[in-house]
Amino acid sequence: MPKSQDIVISMDKICKSFPLEIGGQQQVLFDITFKVHAGEFVAIMGPSGSGKSTCMNIIGALDTPTSGTYELYGRNIANMTPDELAVIRNEYIGFVFQQFNLLSKRSVLDNVMLPLMYRGLPMSERVRRAREMLKRVGLEKFESYLPNQLSGGMKQRVAIARALAGDPKLILADEPTGALDSKMGHEILTFLKQLNHDMGITIVMITHEFDIAKYASRLIHIRDGRINYDGPVPRDERVLERGQK
Ligand SMILES: Nc1ncnc2c1ncn2[C@@H]1O[C@H](COP(=O)(O)OP(=O)(O)OP(=O)(O)O)[C@@H](O)[C@H]1O
Ligand SMILES: [Mg+2]
Repeated sequence: MPKSQDIVISMDKICKSFPLEIGGQQQVLFDITFKVHAGEFVAIMGPSGSGKSTCMNIIGALDTPTSGTYELYGRNIANMTPDELAVIRNEYIGFVFQQFNLLSKRSVLDNVMLPLMYRGLPMSERVRRAREMLKRVGLEKFESYLPNQLSGGMKQRVAIARALAGDPKLILADEPTGALDSKMGHEILTFLKQLNHDMGITIVMITHEFDIAKYASRLIHIRDGRINYDGPVPRDERVLERGQK
């Protein structure tokens, strides 16, 4: 059995509502409860609008729940100041987004160095570490390029190098292959799987496609803001239609 200190993410009855412009509230997440242990690779899957990104924003401490308890590494997010949250995000989490979110006017190397800016490291050490990460994703020859001089798959590899530069314990990836063709998508997913397997980095990945979720070892399926399946990735997607918790 995993030990309690191995718990990375603990969500207990998380609800999230957004105010509607016409007044009132729209509830998007309903009693979301799950735990993720260190070393897991979890896919959160669900149709468009089911609440995946909303859930991911809460996991990444980018947004707060309306009710329920969320603990990241055993610390209740609700009790933390915005500064403490920023430190947690910077030190523990590497973010990977569908649209890469690279700074277009900065070089590949500068982009990868970004998470190290707040660590108080000397410049030479930041450069050394960023180069090491670029090497890991096979882009060491491209450090002085601008992002728009790279292909989509290469941009996502830069984004992964950036996520890794901060030495995160957790990678949160929201549709990391959503903007890539299937070959490049496969490459990125294989790479994420390797990071999980070889370095033990915990990964939570959001997707709406079963073929992508298959790269993970556990699948949480969300429908209309509720978990309707949480378990090993099933062989057949139809299991998700029936739901099983
Ligand atoms: N900041 C916000 N303000 C108001 N409503 C929001 C906000 N963010 C999300 N929503 C609503 O919450 C619902 C779920 O959105 P969310 O982005 O979490 O879905 P998703 O599962 O990530 O979908 P997709 O696969 O299209 O990215 C949608 O109805 C959306 O309109
Ligand atoms: Mg989304």
